This record gives sequence, C-alpha cells and structure tokens, in this order.
Amino acid sequence: MLTNILNKVGNTPLVYLKNDEMPNVKIFAKLEYYNPTGSVKDRAACYIINRALNEGIFNKDTVLIESSSGNFGVALSAYTKMHNLKFICVIDKNTLPVNEMLIRLQGAEIIKITEPDEFGGYLLNRIKTIKDLLKKMPNLYWVNQYANTLNAEAYYGSLGREICQEAPGQRVEYVFMGVSSGGTITGVSRRVKKENPDAKIIAVDIYGSVIFGDTPRKRYIPGIGSSLQPEILEHAFIDDVVLVSEYETILCCKELLEKHNLYAGGSSGSVYAGIKKYFRDRKIDESVNVMCVFADRGERYIETIYNEEWTEMIRKHSLVENLI
Ligand SMILES: Cc1ncc(COP(=O)(O)O)c(C=O)c1O
Repeated sequence: MLTNILNKVGNTPLVYLKNDEMPNVKIFAKLEYYNPTGSVKDRAACYIINRALNEGIFNKDTVLIESSSGNFGVALSAYTKMHNLKFICVIDKNTLPVNEMLIRLQGAEIIKITEPDEFGGYLLNRIKTIKDLLKKMPNLYWVNQYANTLNAEAYYGSLGREICQEAPGQRVEYVFMGVSSGGTITGVSRRVKKENPDAKIIAVDIYGSVIFGDTPRKRYIPGIGSSLQPEILEHAFIDDVVLVSEYETILCCKELLEKHNLYAGGSSGSVYAGIKKYFRDRKIDESVNVMCVFADRGERYIETIYNEEWTEMIRKHSLVENLI
C-alpha cells in the first residue's frame, strides 16, 4: 500500500507495437504517462528534489524556480508541495491551459512570459527572467533542467535501467527518444551504452528546433524541441538524429490511437514518426529491438493535436514551410 501516490515513480508499462510494414523492427514503447503526474518528468522532479535535500544542496527554506513549458512544471509543483517547498514556475503564452491550472492548483507561483524572444519562442526570455530573480533572491535554487547533471542522473538510474532490463532478452539495439532539455536522452543513453555498447541511440527532434542545428522556426507543439542547445547534451551518446514535422507528429499520434489504443501526447507521435522515417530506407535483415519513450498522455492535447481545425492549421503551416 502506498502512503502517497507520488512515491510511485517509474516501472512504467512497456508495450509492444506490432507493425506489419517493418516486420523485423520490433517496437517497444515505455509509457511514461503512467507516472504519477502524467509524464516522464516525474522521474527528474522526484530525483532532483530528493537528492538535493539529502545532500544539503538546498534546504526547506529554499525557493525553487524553473522554466517549463508544462510537464516539468506540473511534476515539480507536485513534488515541491509534497516536501513543503516553495516553487516559482516560469511558463509562457504557449503553455497548455490544463498544465497552467495544475501548476497553480498545486500551490506554485506562476510567472507567465508573453514577449517572444529573437527566435520567436519564449525560452530565452523565460531564462532571462530567472537570471534577473537570482540576482535579487539569495535563497532561490534554479533547477535548470538544461544544465543540471542531476536531471540526466535521474534517468540513468531509473528509465535507462528499466529499458535495459525490460528489453526482450535484455537486448537493446535501438532507443528512440524525443529531446527538449536533453535530460532523458543523456541519462538513458549513458546507461544503455554501458550495458549494450552497440546499441544505437537516436534523438528525435522537430523541424524548427535548434537543438541539432536546424533553422529556428515557429513551433506549436510543446514538450519537444528547443530554441537553445542544452548544455547537458554534451554528456549524451547520440548516434543519429531524425527530424520530423509537426504534421507528421499529429498523424502518428492519431495512428497510435487507431492501431494501438494509445492516447499519447505530442512527442510520442514525433518519436513514432521518427522510427518510421529512420527505418523507411534501411534494410533490416534480422529482427531488432527498438525501444522508445512515450513521454506523456493525449488528454492535455485535446484542443491541439486531437482537434481537426488545429490539425488543418498545422498542415497548412507545414506546407508553406516546405516541411511535408
Ligand atoms: C512531452 C515531452 N516529451 C519529451 C520531453 C523531453 O524530455 P527532456 O526534457 O528530458 O529532453 C519532454 C520534456 O519536458 C516532454 O514534456
């Protein structure tokens, strides 16, 4: 019996996604939306807070601050509340209303950025706001998912370990992950390469994100991509990168629901699209285990990815930008 649901982080279900087009490509998805606050980010929030409190990196009087487009903010607001810590979450105009509501209801203070930065996103202005506050408030701890090595460590010991243990025959040939802060792929890649040195780690990103050097462009789907290159990625082992469009992402989210009964969030569709794209022109003679991470659930995208008008807007935008 659990005394608090927030202690049930990890050990998420692994599901086989049968596909007839590529019979040798055995796809297995870790459903990270089974974590207590609904996303892969519970792993980082829970781990960082526990480690920092245990090691005196911060204490009960510390105020935490973080820039988050949603899932990390939701997770941090839950785990800070559990530990009676104060939390300031810096969000922006693109944050899904449901995430903003959850963050507020869990007692966090919200700062909402409405001025776009030079790349048309909000991240740079969110970070500037935090840096300004750090100068004024000495008891402020910036979680800083883009650079904090604890973010990657959280995934090394949990999701990375689970992927290695749960892969059929404990054989991992490929791992596909969406990237935003880079914490997941950094931690998971280090663990997977340690136990399966020949495994290939494939990063999936969205056109318009600068993480792997694409030209900055307006992006609409939260949770994947970034308008800065995360420092933490210097420690990641990445063999290849697949870029997908937002329209491909939407189509793949819908396919996951139709064919596999998975009502998944945006980056899960991107990852699924990335797997298809990667293997489309490769001849795979023997069966390979392809592990992938589905980071959050579809409910939070009801007005976007699962909305017909919004999909049409993204289709037109992707056509104009020559992405599809
Ligand atoms: C939906 C979703 N997918 C993927 C990611 C990527 O994870 P990371 O920030 O560890 O790179 C995130 C991170 O917030 C996310 O919310």
